[in-house]
Amino acid sequence: MAEALARTLAAPPRPTYRTDRSFEWNHANGPDFAGPWPVVPETPTKDFFGLAVRSRFGVAASIVLNSRWTETYARLGFDILTYKTVRSQARLCHPPPNWLFLDDRSVAAGLADRETPLALAARPPADPRTATTAGSFGTPSVAPETWQPDIAAARRALGPGQALIVSVVGTARPGLSEADFVAEYGALAQTVAAAGADLVEVDLSCPNVARREGEVYLDPRLSAAIARAVKAAAGARPVLLKTGDIADRAQMAAFLEAVAGAADGVVMINAPSRPIVDGAGAPAFGAGRERAGVAGGAIKAIALRAVADAAAHIRRRGLPLEVIGVGGVASAADARAFLDAGAYAVQAATAAAWNPYLAAEIKAAAPDI
Ligand SMILES: Cc1cc2nc3c(=O)[nH]c(=O)nc-3n(C[C@H](O)[C@H](O)[C@H](O)COP(=O)(O)O)c2cc1C
Repeated sequence: MAEALARTLAAPPRPTYRTDRSFEWNHANGPDFAGPWPVVPETPTKDFFGLAVRSRFGVAASIVLNSRWTETYARLGFDILTYKTVRSQARLCHPPPNWLFLDDRSVAAGLADRETPLALAARPPADPRTATTAGSFGTPSVAPETWQPDIAAARRALGPGQALIVSVVGTARPGLSEADFVAEYGALAQTVAAAGADLVEVDLSCPNVARREGEVYLDPRLSAAIARAVKAAAGARPVLLKTGDIADRAQMAAFLEAVAGAADGVVMINAPSRPIVDGAGAPAFGAGRERAGVAGGAIKAIALRAVADAAAHIRRRGLPLEVIGVGGVASAADARAFLDAGAYAVQAATAAAWNPYLAAEIKAAAPDI
């Protein structure tokens, strides 16, 4: 068994998501993975919001596009799987390119500042598993008539000790009242819960959409109203809120205080929004898409600090909230660092695409995770 695992882990990394194809292509044809399948180490059961899981590790809302992706990642040993954010009506993805590598030096020099443009990498990185990327998708969604039965299929594709989170987002549109915007989240939560979600996640933080949808987490009052509506609609299911990095820690504290008691957990962090340029200094994703979400290796430090500070505040104030850590996790050591910082569970997006063996690696190195 160890030999088989060593052999599969030695395979060169290749992404399951085809970045040279459209999102719709990946939805219809992915994941691009034909094996070899790892021997996933048996690990002890842990509690995850009252659910039994084989590890507190999984995939963040990103590349689990539908039930086929769920089936593949479940079989690869990822235990906490997040079905990519769905809407109450169909929305096309931004046209390709959607997901590009960034230049390490440009990221190192500019990431700390929200307005400094980051440059694309001139050539593919030496190790894509730990590389930094920029994503510009726009939170696409198929229609509810399609995702509803597919969520049920995704739930059926899980093995014992695995949990399905379904991420939802309301769609901001001109003239929509705040009450109707909040109610839309409740209706979405009720539908995904009925379809088979074990937990409901609310995306309060997409970097590539209308401000109103994408920056809800900066408004504690609206965040709490949405959390309450979702909690009421989700039945007994745990509710998670996905946020960006809240750089102002007083604002982070206000958010945590406001949502505690309605939400059960916060998922930190979504991809920080930054201007992205090509080699000539032009918007890399095209006009109108000047900013994109930065994900992968370089955001780990930001995510770790956010998780540590949120967990410390929650502990100090005795708030009934857990933190799920996301951002640049590419190894068992990374996952351990998030848990040591106070995270309850850990997820990956970028590294999970470029290293489908990540869960098996983590289970082999750290069966307690
Ligand atoms: C391809 C891709 C798609 C994503 N889609 C979503 C999404 O639909 N909803 C969401 O809340 N976050 C989304 N994210 C953000 C991730 O969940 C995660 O917060 C971010 O990528 C940081 O994790 P990473 O460094 O492991 O990639 C997406 C990220 C990527 C790379």
